Amino acid sequence: MSDQKIKVLFVCLGNICRSPMAEAVFAHTALQKGLQSRFIADSAGTSSYHIGEPPHPRTIKLCTDSGIRIDHSARMLEINDFDEFDYIFCMDDMNLRESKKLMKSAKNPKATVKLFGEYDPQGKTTIEDINRLCLLSDPYHSGNEAYKEVFEQVTRCSEAFLQSLGF
Ligand code: 4NP
Repeated sequence: MSDQKIKVLFVCLGNICRSPMAEAVFAHTALQKGLQSRFIADSAGTSSYHIGEPPHPRTIKLCTDSGIRIDHSARMLEINDFDEFDYIFCMDDMNLRESKKLMKSAKNPKATVKLFGEYDPQGKTTIEDINRLCLLSDPYHSGNEAYKEVFEQVTRCSEAFLQSLGF
């Protein structure tokens, strides 16, 4: 097997809720299987809304409560990500459309760009709910259920993606 690392980028809108969660859960899943040296995981947003910010408090809490390390600073998806990454996994249809549009300007794109939810054995293709919940001004009174659902979904998709690669 080649020593080349497989580079995986998770993309959502703000890069504070879903995609940093997917990045952390995927890295943790790979770590649990002893595959950490085989992958590089990162995440990005299609918007500039939260550049430089840490993940949403609910995203951090869900990860740390499960013993999952999460450490990310929000950044925007860049044209050269399509040349750098092997897989670009989008969280919803809007992220997918934006990503594919940007990919047209890439010099030498190699990335497979698709919805991460395509791997969900339960067939929930997109990860939509959290958009609405991230926009609420008070994150402490509602929203935790949707974050948990996203957490469970990205856990299932991470497992299934690794399986699809034969791990
Ligand atoms: P994310 O969620 O795309 O999962 O990080 C969002 C975070 C912030 C906003 C929208 C979605 N926002 O509009 O600020």
